[in-house]
Amino acid sequence: MNVLDAIFTRRSIRKFTGEPIKDEDLKLILKAGFQAPSAHNYEPREYIVVRDREVLDKIADFHQYAKMLPNAGCGIVVCGDTSKQEDMGFLVEDCSASIQNMLLAAHGLGLGAVWCGLYSRQHLVDAMSETLNLPGNIIPIGLVVVGVKEHDKDPKDRYNEEKIHYDKW
Ligand SMILES: Cc1cc2nc3c(=O)[nH]c(=O)nc-3n(C[C@H](O)[C@H](O)[C@H](O)COP(=O)(O)O)c2cc1C
Repeated sequence: MNVLDAIFTRRSIRKFTGEPIKDEDLKLILKAGFQAPSAHNYEPREYIVVRDREVLDKIADFHQYAKMLPNAGCGIVVCGDTSKQEDMGFLVEDCSASIQNMLLAAHGLGLGAVWCGLYSRQHLVDAMSETLNLPGNIIPIGLVVVGVKEHDKDPKDRYNEEKIHYDKW
């Protein structure tokens, strides 16, 4: 799939068959995450691949909008390392760029994926940190849920000329 096709046809997929995803696909998705740009090229991202059904269920219990997790192939928690820069710096942007790359990679591989937000909902950050035993400098920013999709979703054209401003507002 070329990059523009991937961008224009990707949708959030929340219904999965429950089948596992192949190790080589998972590796490609993770590699796509690593390829994302990061501010100052600090690469402050860490990835936690969650495949343990018990842990997936536990996350679905505390995350109101991640109830699709138990049927997914895995969840990838993208975390920022505050020890790599001052405070939060550009951690959110760096992790978000990785997440978007992973969503597109999953789509390109014919898999379904959805981004579930964590930061800056403190109760989700705290619950995820406790569940995954994260050290204090590792902040969970977002969760990418990946799986074998139950069905395709039609692309949506969201282009809106009214929201584009040239040279000034
Ligand atoms: C920061 C962020 C957090 C999101 N959190 C959730 C979530 O917790 N659960 C979920 O099902 N979808 C979540 N989404 C996915 C959005 O709901 C989805 O991208 C949006 O409805 C547009 O649909 P599309 O991705 O199919 O184009 C999140 C997206 C972003 C960017």
